[in-house]
Amino acid sequence: MRVFVAGATGALGRHLVPGLVAEGHEVTATTRTPGKVARLREAGAEPVVVDGLDRQAVMAAVLAAAPEVIVHQMTALADLRSLRKVDQGFAATNELRTRGTDNLLAAAARAGTRRVVAQSNAGMYERSGGPVKTEEDPLASRPPSPSSARSLAAITHVDTTVPLAAPEGIVLRYGGFYGPGVSDPLLDMVRKRRVPVIGGGTGISSFIEITDAAAATLAAVERGGPGAYNVVDSDPAPVAEWLPYLAEVAGAKPPPRMPAWLGRLLAGAFVVDQMTSWRGASNEKARKELGWEPRYPSWREGFRAWAGG
Ligand SMILES: NC(=O)c1ccc[n+]([C@@H]2O[C@H](COP(=O)([O-])OP(=O)(O)OC[C@H]3O[C@@H](n4cnc5c(N)ncnc54)[C@H](OP(=O)(O)O)[C@@H]3O)[C@@H](O)[C@H]2O)c1
Repeated sequence: MRVFVAGATGALGRHLVPGLVAEGHEVTATTRTPGKVARLREAGAEPVVVDGLDRQAVMAAVLAAAPEVIVHQMTALADLRSLRKVDQGFAATNELRTRGTDNLLAAAARAGTRRVVAQSNAGMYERSGGPVKTEEDPLASRPPSPSSARSLAAITHVDTTVPLAAPEGIVLRYGGFYGPGVSDPLLDMVRKRRVPVIGGGTGISSFIEITDAAAATLAAVERGGPGAYNVVDSDPAPVAEWLPYLAEVAGAKPPPRMPAWLGRLLAGAFVVDQMTSWRGASNEKARKELGWEPRYPSWREGFRAWAGG
């Protein structure tokens, strides 16, 4: 198939492009940076330099490629330093999730693209009821902190618009990415004991190793009905369990503990919400309907391979 990958040089795109090429797909891959064109060509893709917020340029690139499938992996998270002011840190990403999504959907409609696969997040479920959510469960109706209202609205935009706007619209609600060259700032902070377990660490996290996330994305390019899929491992776990384990395999001392009130002051309400109230996600639907199995069904083996080397 002809596949257009928007955001092909990012954490996920980097693994997705060679996978698509190996499967025999004809890949058009975007970057904003002319310096990254050679790398994309080496991976076997046809590179195109385009800004996802430039509607006309996106339209022209998509029409020229005439893809059967578009994959939206555009984010601007590489420079994210803190989660204290979420909307500030996510401002560019939020634009890509709203305007960027709309540009791709408009281009898809014009080019007759059948399937659009977009990046969403599994940490968006309502923070009440059971600890592990399926795609049928409601998403958070209120932002976890005043400083994340726009970010919640932006990701909800992807999640609700894509399945409706494309003939085969798919959103992949990824767990927290980790793996070679991915989320290294977290690992670095854990090694320095700068990530405390806040308020008992009762929040449930779902992770996904980055090559597993790319494999699920490749599966969603090729098959699966429209709608949302949780792309997470099979082992949702409380922060109080995975964070000390990550420290251990990374050769660090156990993480410090911190009461929620102090966490709110030092790390902000978003991080406290993540550590105390997040719900995990089930991968049953993705495994069944996409015919995908994670190579790392648990972060236990995955973290060891990532951080233990
Ligand atoms: N679920 C998760 O946990 C999750 C999800 C995403 C990312 N992350 C983490 O965030 C960190 C950084 O992510 P990343 O490596 O994917 O980098 P990133 O800076 O978020 O870039 C992702 C992709 O979006 C493209 N992009 C950015 N702005 C664009 C624009 N205006 N128009 C078109 N394309 C644009 C980039 O292309 P160019 O720069 O080449 O133009 C790149 O291909 C990683 O450590 C990753 O683990 C985590």
